[in-house]
Amino acid sequence: MLKSIILAAGKGTRMKSDTPKVLHTIFDKSLVEYVIEAVNNTGLIDENYIIVGHQARQVEEYINKNCRNSTCILQMPQLGTGHAVSMARAELRDYEGEVIILCGDTPLITAETLKDFIVFHKSKNSDLTVMSAIMENPANYGRIIKNYDGTLNSIVEEKDATEEEKLVNEVNAGIYCLNWGKIRQAFSELQNNNAQGEYYLTDIVKWANSKKFSVNSYTIKNNEEIFGINSKANLAEAAKLMNKRIINKHLENGVTIIDPATTWISPDTVIESDTVIYPSCYINGKNKIGRNCKIGPFAHLRGDVVLEDNVKIGNFVEVKKTTIKSHTNACHLTYLGDSEIGSGVNIGAGTITANYNPLTKEKSKTIIKDNVKIGSNSVLVAPVTIEEGANVGALSVITKNIPAWALAITRAPLRIVENWVKSNTNH
Ligand code: UD1
Ligand code: CA
Repeated sequence: MLKSIILAAGKGTRMKSDTPKVLHTIFDKSLVEYVIEAVNNTGLIDENYIIVGHQARQVEEYINKNCRNSTCILQMPQLGTGHAVSMARAELRDYEGEVIILCGDTPLITAETLKDFIVFHKSKNSDLTVMSAIMENPANYGRIIKNYDGTLNSIVEEKDATEEEKLVNEVNAGIYCLNWGKIRQAFSELQNNNAQGEYYLTDIVKWANSKKFSVNSYTIKNNEEIFGINSKANLAEAAKLMNKRIINKHLENGVTIIDPATTWISPDTVIESDTVIYPSCYINGKNKIGRNCKIGPFAHLRGDVVLEDNVKIGNFVEVKKTTIKSHTNACHLTYLGDSEIGSGVNIGAGTITANYNPLTKEKSKTIIKDNVKIGSNSVLVAPVTIEEGANVGALSVITKNIPAWALAITRAPLRIVENWVKSNTNH
């Protein structure tokens, strides 16, 4: 098993935000968590060292709470990417195996690419492999400088590059695989005599060459995967790219998505085939949607939603932490939260599960058994159970459990006053 080092100590000034850069989110999941997940999903790496610096405490708290196999290491102050990696020396001590190094702000990197990269590194018997990318516009990236025989010579940062070097369009993607036993010595020897006065991680290439180690480069197939987030505009673009990738996967799996441009589906949502997603839906968090469901238009799934087959969630329906069994419909203007809903249920327009008590700040459950019919504009005040087959009359406020097959109704009786209008006006 390999180890990873993920660099996440930088400030992210251009985000113009009080939130640390790597804790910005796409579908409520932080940028650094996407990177850690991709690394963990390779199945080849058993420990991640996350280098934290700016707002370290916040980043560390998030990682400890949400990410597997991950230990944070403090880098204070931040003297460059090479300095950042050198912070992991104590933790890695006598480790002799391979280490993969990547950045915490590239959420689109995939486990498949990382696996392919590691396999390449091993197949070449490489001591140091650098991931590169061919870019139409290489500005701001480190340039890959090759020898005449095509082998990797060095990486030159834009700020240190000559005009000729700047013409090179193969760039450093910022992902490395190296043999720690052989390369770790480099981190004690890095110098900061460059344009930025930083200890550059990229200088390990020259160092490894000077020691006659085997140095190779691997060119990534899809540049999108190394798209780094430096601004809110980048964040919006990355979210769109990620969403597009997810939508394409669902389309391939036989889900019908009427309008990919206005549909948002989180990476942790499973959808079975022949389900139709109508335009303008936002599906966030972890969800499981069965076959032949109809979702939207304008539906909002907020996470922890499980829909069995043939469920309909219609327009302006919000669902959170709720399980719905097959052949149940909630077609219009409804909120279903913290609920368990049976099969063959009809939820009338405007139904609300009142799951939250703002005085106690507690959330409670609503349980609706099979074949229940909830009339329009009803409020089900949780905790409450509507037993099998019961009917709730429209406009009811349900504060007690309702027995099976009963009718529950709290509506004021209808009064008709004949000719009232005529006697009160000039008609
Ligand atoms: C770096 C590479 C460049 C490459 C580019 C790819 C170096 C010297 N240059 O440049 O060749 O093309 O990435 O994106 O490595 N960080 C720390 N501690 C530090 C400095 C940085 O943790 O002291 C982290 C940052 O938070 C960031 C990552 O390292 O996640 C990259 O740092 P950044 O300053 O953005 O490097 P680039 O200038 O983009
Ligand atoms: Ca960068």
